[in-house]
Amino acid sequence: MKTGKRILLIEDDEPLRESIRCFLEQNGFLTVESGCLADARRRLERDVFDLLLLDLTLPDGDGMDVLEWFAAQYPHRIVVLTGTGSIDTAVLAMKKGAHDFLQKPINPEMLLITLQRALAFLQTRDEFRDLKREIGDAAGFDKFIFRSRVMAEVIGTARQYAATPHTILICGETGTGKELMAQAIHHCSSRGSQPLISVNCASIPENLAESELFGFKKGAFTGAYADSPGKFLLADRGTILLDEIGELPLNIQAKLLRVLEESVITPLKGRKPLPVNIRVLAATNKDLEEEVQQKRFRADLYYRIDELKILIPPLRARREDIVPLAEHFLGIANLVNPRRITGISGSARRLLTRYDWPGNVRELKNTIFKISAAGLTGEIGPEHLPLKLLHSRRGHARGGRQPSLAEVSRDHMQDVLSQCGYKYAQAAKILGISRTSLYRKMSELEAKNKKKTVS
Ligand SMILES: Nc1ncnc2c1ncn2[C@@H]1O[C@H](COP(=O)(O)OP(=O)(O)OP(=O)(O)O)[C@@H](O)[C@H]1O
Ligand SMILES: [Mg+2]
Repeated sequence: MKTGKRILLIEDDEPLRESIRCFLEQNGFLTVESGCLADARRRLERDVFDLLLLDLTLPDGDGMDVLEWFAAQYPHRIVVLTGTGSIDTAVLAMKKGAHDFLQKPINPEMLLITLQRALAFLQTRDEFRDLKREIGDAAGFDKFIFRSRVMAEVIGTARQYAATPHTILICGETGTGKELMAQAIHHCSSRGSQPLISVNCASIPENLAESELFGFKKGAFTGAYADSPGKFLLADRGTILLDEIGELPLNIQAKLLRVLEESVITPLKGRKPLPVNIRVLAATNKDLEEEVQQKRFRADLYYRIDELKILIPPLRARREDIVPLAEHFLGIANLVNPRRITGISGSARRLLTRYDWPGNVRELKNTIFKISAAGLTGEIGPEHLPLKLLHSRRGHARGGRQPSLAEVSRDHMQDVLSQCGYKYAQAAKILGISRTSLYRKMSELEAKNKKKTVS
């Protein structure tokens, strides 16, 4: 039976090597032979093996001396062959990174069992790693609380994009969760264990932007007492988030574009360009296309960062998310504040759902935290909500004009749904329509909302 596993057998005793090779091949292993350390090194540089069988006494050196070096490249993949009775040697070899040992004369059955056990260990380790990665993935996007279909779709897309190496432009109004999205994408990408470096392009003074981003050499300007790496070098092998990229000064935009195109940075007054390996995410609450038209943002940079786009809809376009989010923040507030708020009354929920939340999730979060900090116990009622919510009318979103009949019935459906905790059967009963037609009407509404947010 073929295992397809590749073994590098490093043994200078030719008859022994030959017999081990025959035995291993009969048992389905592919075996490459090596008679000395120098040859073994060459083969390790050129080829990849699943396991190494290493004799410790070789003509050009002691296997023990190279063991650490071999084990660094092949952790848990080295089985050493030791002379009879040399248990101390075996123990030392294990300390230096060997996975297991076999004593000479080699018992073929023991050899087979040892190799199979080592391979089983490696398989379990890999499975564990995959599992950890999967759990890690859940942790990234799990931070998003939502109930709306539109958010489920946005997160589904983001999950797919995360796995690619492409630049992603994350768009959305203030407080919609762009930074949270960038963190989740980075966390779930293959660079998740490397750094995520965030740069707020709006808060860097124009004259310092270049040195902040690309670093500087000692003496580049007064006060530059030592080399500074800059954000791009810090993000090497990881991800950089260019937050509020729409605020980046035009002259820096040109330099940024060059870095993105060439993947090299040149620190201020540095002579040598340094290669960098970075995944770029950018976030903005501006309409960058409009910025391009107004000549405030370079078109070439826009096309470079707009490889993939994620648009997070404002909270008012996904009102089903408001109550779950409020309850989520209430749960956090309750952890911090010992005075317990037991829940949110029906009428308070309705008011929360009706309000347009111009500051989006951040505004909702702050509202709940403020209520909790005020020391309320029991249920949040309308009287505990900020006045702006009590006076809110959906007319705000319509610029004050009278609502159409379709808008009124849509708002009413949403109110009833929110009152029933989005239990469609219950809401449909109150509204006097069937559950399926409520679903249909709400889907049409979501589709319209989505169009509005995209256009
Ligand atoms: N769907 C969500 N579930 C849970 N928390 C969220 C969600 N969306 C946003 N938040 C939280 O709301 C707050 C604001 O989010 P974030 O800072 O990511 O917004 P932003 O779009 O980057 O805002 P700005 O444009 O102002 O920088 C953060 O505390 C974030 O954790
Ligand atoms: Mg942000």
